Amino acid sequence: MNILITGGAGYIGSHTLIELDNAGYSFIIFDNLSNAPTESLNRVEKIINKSIIFEQGDIRDAQALKNVFLNYSINSVIHFAGLKAVGESVAQPLKYYDNNVVGTLRLLEVMQEFHCKKIVFSSSATVYGDPESSPIKEDFPTGATTNPYGRTKYIIEEILKDLCVSDPEFKSVILRYFNPVGAHESGTMGEDPNGIPNNLMPFISQIAVGKREYLKVFGGDYATHDGTGVRDYIHVVDLALAHVKAIDYLSSEQFSREHSIFNIGTGQGYSVLDMVKAYVKASDKKIPYKIIERRAGDIATCFACPNYAKEILDWEATRTIDDMCKDSYQWQSNNPDGYKNLQENNGSFKF
Ligand code: NAD
Ligand code: UFG
Repeated sequence: MNILITGGAGYIGSHTLIELDNAGYSFIIFDNLSNAPTESLNRVEKIINKSIIFEQGDIRDAQALKNVFLNYSINSVIHFAGLKAVGESVAQPLKYYDNNVVGTLRLLEVMQEFHCKKIVFSSSATVYGDPESSPIKEDFPTGATTNPYGRTKYIIEEILKDLCVSDPEFKSVILRYFNPVGAHESGTMGEDPNGIPNNLMPFISQIAVGKREYLKVFGGDYATHDGTGVRDYIHVVDLALAHVKAIDYLSSEQFSREHSIFNIGTGQGYSVLDMVKAYVKASDKKIPYKIIERRAGDIATCFACPNYAKEILDWEATRTIDDMCKDSYQWQSNNPDGYKNLQENNGSFKF
């Protein structure tokens, strides 16, 4: 029996493959490569020292999905596939609703057709919008999202809840990630954003290796300990391990529908300047920065209460911000152009 991993060539998916393999699970990867190179999968193969099965395809293509279900025995799905750039979702909302929402509908229809009724879904803290307070608990209000990307996550969560009500055999686990950062400790895998990074950690990493000049800190006047935005950064390997626990839980006697949505964070909030300091310490590089105006749509503070994941899934983050910065820097300094160089040398495409 295999797990189908949609979006498995991407940043979080590729790290999760390694932890699934360590835990003895087998899987099939399904990805349209719209935001990932196959090189990430080559690196996974090197780490786990075995070949993996990859099927290139789009989750909106029902026939392509059906072919995978026909060709392999699949009993559950981890659904990472999706577009994730907040700014792009504001500029091109239909692209996001089509890819993320329509794509998930197609996937769920095919799963139903093949009686595959277990799914882990990649949601996001973005479903909480601008929360009244932090730490955020799972029963805080959701839906007041600030951009189309966030709305796709909220809509998919609601679709999954409705589906589980309509079909008592259908089981879903929704993981609401906070801010995933860091890289595999081997230094061979990590985040490889396309173009200028939107997110803090990849931007800092590119400054550390001399690819960018300085960090624009978006806002120095928030009601936080140093005026800069506070987030709950989580190491991508801890996040990957949460998926293994979620898959274990879906198949366990303990599974209950009432307990199926989890915050995946550390419970610690760090500011932008805290992250800069930690990165300087980990890399021994200078990270120049300038505080500029706030970025539209940003909130002051967002960190998780992760107690529920600990209690029910038996999962908690163990990696510190020093680990996150050290591993990010190791990845970025070993691979200043991400997976790109190798892809170009291979003659295969990248983005
Ligand atoms: P990523 O872009 O690195 O990975 C997503 C993968 O999905 C890519 O490999 C891409 O090629 C693939 N994909 C996209 N659309 C597809 C489609 N229609 N059919 C098949 N494959 C498709 O992103 P990531 O950071 O690994 O994120 C994984 C998931 O977690 C996404 O759903 C994202 O929204 C969610 N998430 C990410 C973050 C974050 O900050 N990275 C935070 C919260 C939630
Ligand atoms: N920041 C800067 N300068 C930058 C980039 C970011 O100061 O160049 C600041 C932001 O203002 C924010 C913090 O760094 O205070 C983190 O910003 P990110 O862009 O890294 O992350 P966000 O919290 O804005 O959003 C991320 C993902 C979203 C996801 C959300 C919650 O990008 O997809 O976490 O999970 F929805």
